[in-house]
Parts: sequence; C-alpha cells; structure tokens
Amino acid sequence: MGPLLLAGALGYLLGSVPFGLLLVRLSGGGDIRAIGSGNIGATNVLRTGKKSIAAATLLLDALKGLVAVLLGGWLGQASGVAPLAASVAAVCVVLGHCFPLWLSFKGGKGVATGLGALVGLCWPVGLACALLWLGAARASRISSVGALTAFLAAPLLMAIVWLWSHDATPAPVVATLAVTLIVMLRHHANIKRLVAGVEPRVGQK
Ligand code: G3P
Repeated sequence: MGPLLLAGALGYLLGSVPFGLLLVRLSGGGDIRAIGSGNIGATNVLRTGKKSIAAATLLLDALKGLVAVLLGGWLGQASGVAPLAASVAAVCVVLGHCFPLWLSFKGGKGVATGLGALVGLCWPVGLACALLWLGAARASRISSVGALTAFLAAPLLMAIVWLWSHDATPAPVVATLAVTLIVMLRHHANIKRLVAGVEPRVGQK
C-alpha cells in the first residue's frame, strides 16, 4: 500500500473511534446519541453533567486528529511526500470522526478532531484556531459559534502561512479547506438553530 493510501486509511480508522460514545457508555451514562443534540462530541457530553468525561472526550478527540496527522507525515517521509501524506491523513481523520463505519456513518461534527489535525499540520495555525474557538464560544456561550468562527478562519490562516513560508505544496491549505467544508456541513442543523435564535448555550439541554 502506498504511503498516501496508508495515511488515509489509518487516519480514517483512528478518526472513527467514537471516544464520546464509549466514555459516556463506560461511565454508565447510556447512549450519548439519545441525549441533547445527539452528537457524540464533547459539547454534547457536557450536557450529561459529567464535566470530566466531556474534558476527556475533547482531549482524546483532539489527540486522535493530531496523532493521525503526525503518523501520516511519518509514513510519507521515506517517499518525500510527508506534507501531502499528513494532509491526506488530516482530511481522513475528520471524515472518520464524522462518518464512522462502526456507527453506520453517523458520527460527530469534527471540531476537536479537526483542531487536533490542524495542530499536526501547522501548530501555530492549530493553536490560533483553538484560541479562536475558545474565545468565540466563551463570548457567545454557544459552542457552535466557537466552532464556526475557528473553522472559517482556519483556511485563511493556513493560506497566509503557506504564502509566507514559500512551501512547495499547497496540500495543507487544500486539506484545511476540505476540513472546514466537512465541519460546516456537519453543523447545518446548528446553523439553522443559530439563524432561528434557538441554539442552546454551553451546558444547556
Ligand atoms: O463540537 C460540536 C459543537 O460545535 C456543537 O455541538 O452538540 O451543540 O450540536 P452540539
């Protein structure tokens, strides 16, 4: 298997591990998909009232994004395609989280996993997006506002870094654009609720 295919396949498999679902179930909280928004991400896990489980979900979902990208880069190194393999892994880990094979392709919204993947692709961009997410979510008290703000900024920030660094391949910019598109599509119900003014605040059921 070529390094790009391997990076993509491993990225998808890693992304498809539904930490939120598993942690809530293991802690005796039942099926997270039957609670709140039905999402398997940290924001919805917080609606169960289990703060430490929500924090662990956030951390592990972000970590799988980071690990997938680092692994992809490592797999591509020997063939001189490290940035491209890391970029393929970034898109595939988010696809795995959002459309996991094990859950009939009904997964999460890709925020924490996407942020972790961005840190792996270019840590200053990932860090800036994580801070934007936190800042906007804190200011609005709405998690999806944080997510939409961060992922709208992400391709722009990645493009600026790419132009500035004179890197040969635009793959990380293209991958970031793809991740943003996936995150936006997965937030279609949130966007509808935001427009209608009925999107719940953080912790609200
Ligand atoms: O991380 C997902 C967040 O942006 C929205 O989650 O559960 O409110 O739809 P939720």
